[in-house]
Amino acid sequence: MKKDWWKDAVVYQIYPRSFQDSNGDGIGDLRGIISRLDYIKELGADVIWICPIYPSPNVDYGYDVTDHKTIMDSYGTMEDFHDLLDEVHQRGLKLVMDFVLNHTSVEHPWFKEAELDKNSKYRSYYLWRPGTKNGPPTDWVSDYGRPVWQYEEHTGEYYLHMNAVKQADLNWENPDVRQAVYDMMKFWLDKGVDGLRIDQLHLISKKEFLPSYEDYVNQRAEPKPFQPNGERIHDYLKEMTDEVFSQYDVMSVGEVGSVTPEEGLTYTGTDKHELNMIFHFQHMELDQQPGKAHWDLKPLELSDLKSVLSKWQKTLEHKGWNTLFWCNHDQPRIVSRFGDEGRYRKESAKMLATVLYFMKGTPYIYQGEEIGMTNAPFMRIEDYKDIQTINMYHKRVFENGYDPEEVMASILAKSRDHARTPMQWSSGKNAGFTDGTPWLKINPNYTSVNAEEAEADPDSILAYYKKVISLRKQYADLIKGSYDLLLPDDPQLFVYVRGNGNQQLLVVNNFSKEQAVFHWPELCSKDQASLLLSNYKNSDIADEMVFQPYESRVYLLNERE
Ligand code: NOJ
Repeated sequence: MKKDWWKDAVVYQIYPRSFQDSNGDGIGDLRGIISRLDYIKELGADVIWICPIYPSPNVDYGYDVTDHKTIMDSYGTMEDFHDLLDEVHQRGLKLVMDFVLNHTSVEHPWFKEAELDKNSKYRSYYLWRPGTKNGPPTDWVSDYGRPVWQYEEHTGEYYLHMNAVKQADLNWENPDVRQAVYDMMKFWLDKGVDGLRIDQLHLISKKEFLPSYEDYVNQRAEPKPFQPNGERIHDYLKEMTDEVFSQYDVMSVGEVGSVTPEEGLTYTGTDKHELNMIFHFQHMELDQQPGKAHWDLKPLELSDLKSVLSKWQKTLEHKGWNTLFWCNHDQPRIVSRFGDEGRYRKESAKMLATVLYFMKGTPYIYQGEEIGMTNAPFMRIEDYKDIQTINMYHKRVFENGYDPEEVMASILAKSRDHARTPMQWSSGKNAGFTDGTPWLKINPNYTSVNAEEAEADPDSILAYYKKVISLRKQYADLIKGSYDLLLPDDPQLFVYVRGNGNQQLLVVNNFSKEQAVFHWPELCSKDQASLLLSNYKNSDIADEMVFQPYESRVYLLNERE
């Protein structure tokens, strides 16, 4: 097998709870996924990444694990899992598991023992600290703006949780924790799983526990949000690589929040032998106010997006490898976010695919993105199930006195539940997702936005995604070639050139709902150019061309003599 097979792969991400239910309980499951594998294969994807399927009290829907070596009942059994893996492999696909190793559920047997007994060996699997006279040990707050220490009354100490209160952080300083985690990783890789996506990798090494809460309340220190990417992160990663990843032919992708491209290289650099690639989020933070939460909205500036994506392309060009993604289970739907979910839904969804998936890196397509699923129009907080959304609503409305309408506008734009509404398979009952009552409401536009309709329409977003994926494969060499951004300051056009020394791709996108004028660039030869792909019925090649709203074109150019 080719060594770096993941460089040529396209990944399809499944949020199992919302993908396909097979037994009518309203929750997606493994048998449901098996029944949809042909759809994924036909799309042209090569790898499936499946969000956590381990037992969990579902405070954070699977990201609060109680047993890393079992399957959650509502998803099926270990036998179902083996069948899934077989069926995936029979189709020539690969399966990547999601692995949560920064924290466990407080229902995990380790934590249950640790919270009751200071002398238990599991006590030091977590991070406990005595309080100060004013309360918690430090003034750290999490990304959610919440204190990260929770008082636990049995032993009178605080434990650290960077996420929800019921997700206790593991103590990676403890070598027993690390070995236990490696053992769980190997458990799945030994079954033949083809890779792991590692949740919140940037959090496993904590920085010093300062400043103290007392200094903070006495105004001797500024409050400091918790800083990720602590000193020992790369020691841990090297150890993990030696003990786990280097033993298998698998792919590794780490979720690493808050990193710059330069820091990204410290994780994925080919000379580092750590991860194959990381998820980074700078391009997902451009529609929020700087230094604030993602709920604090701000319109996207196209020049910012071009600059961030291009910087990642250039910095990792010869030294690392990128992930390419617009969507995942934590992000709102991209067509609602950076496109136009109304009149130009199809055009803008295709344009967004063109912008990103002709870049260098491994594309990650999130379920429903390929049919242009949109944000849900749910106006009542009761219709949302995501803990982050609900906590934020209560904090802002009831503690901080925000106007509920403003808070709801943020939720309509950014809630994670927009990604988690059930997959829209058909215009039939419950969008073909379940015979029962879906765990989360279905987006009412399923009657027109669904996979069945898309499969029947040669001009659908789905058909376009298939073309993009097949072109990526046909021009694999070019797709791995150089990247150069043109017109960095143009407020409408996102244009770049890819090249491998023999051929070039000129990728031109109108990232706006107004017409845009594009002048053929001097550095590209028009003479032997041909149009490879377009989302309009337009095949011009001229010195000056008008691009329609959200129009994209990809030209193939032969290298100049
Ligand atoms: C990142 C995951 O993508 C998100 O869904 C989850 O809530 C947090 N990690 C905590 O595990």
